[in-house]
Amino acid sequence: MAQFEENYEKLRSQFEQILTDYLASFTVEPQVLSESFRYSLENGGKRIRPVLMLASAQMFGGKVSDVAGLSVALEMIHTYSLIHDDLPAMDNDDFRRGKPSSHKQFGEGQAILAGDALLNQAYQLLFEGCRKGRTYLNAACFIAKNAGADGMVAGQAADLYYQGKEANADIYDFIVRNKTAKMIESAVAAPAFVYDADGNILSLITGFGKNLGILFQLTDDMLDVSGDFEKLGKTVGKDAKENKISAVSVYGTEKSIEMADRACEQCLEMLSQLPYECSFFEDFTRFVRNRDK
Ligand code: IPE
Ligand code: IPE
Ligand code: MG
Ligand code: MG
Ligand code: MG
Repeated sequence: MAQFEENYEKLRSQFEQILTDYLASFTVEPQVLSESFRYSLENGGKRIRPVLMLASAQMFGGKVSDVAGLSVALEMIHTYSLIHDDLPAMDNDDFRRGKPSSHKQFGEGQAILAGDALLNQAYQLLFEGCRKGRTYLNAACFIAKNAGADGMVAGQAADLYYQGKEANADIYDFIVRNKTAKMIESAVAAPAFVYDADGNILSLITGFGKNLGILFQLTDDMLDVSGDFEKLGKTVGKDAKENKISAVSVYGTEKSIEMADRACEQCLEMLSQLPYECSFFEDFTRFVRNRDK
């Protein structure tokens, strides 16, 4: 695992450099918008989506720089989703990435606008990338679909709608598949569009992303029960307090662990069918299964 940590750290710092370069040319007014935008984006996150995207580009034989814009756009969409997720009207969470949530720092109105700004900047970047040609257009459309009404936003809407209501396996599956797995699918599969991979490869890599996303939310739900504030950088015990639909509320802990093991196996099975060197993704899967942050 030491090798994995080193590889992860290398990709993470490459992404941080890409983001720093992007932000160097990002100047907006008023000052409060510039601050709220950077406050949530600049530090604290694990950066799993951009790390997965950069690793996927390398797996396809490409370069990190090929997907630099796409990786920043995806992390900006993810960051906006966190700001809005934490709002009192949604999960009402006061901490994120080890700091007060955006609305705690800047007030609700500015937090909503910071999210809006991040989302719009992300699309500007995606459009600019489309100048590079058809394959980038396909990648951008894929990211947009997975983030919007047929993706993360749909999952968040269902998550909110079912809060406090009776839920079953189908409802849990819909929520997790959309709110979390589709963004992770975008991370691993957008490079497949960039490099024009064939249908079989595309379905294997999206299948891997889907299962990794499900595994990621299963462990997030379990960490909300047993995790540590210092490590997670966000409040624990909130899902039960707010009557959220979570793996633990729907299935209980024991079954959630079994489901995580099964999702882990599915990930590894899909990777084994890919005709590429994917040991980083195998290690990544085990890291998500065993994570404590
Ligand atoms: C949190 O995502 C939201 C979920 C999908 C559970 P991350 O756990 O990736 O959050 P950051 O980016 O590291 O803060
Ligand atoms: C949120 O799921 C997923 C998003 C799309 C932001 P959670 O509500 O469980 O994420 P955390 O626990 O607040 O990070
Ligand atoms: Mg939520
Ligand atoms: Mg939340
Ligand atoms: Mg959670």
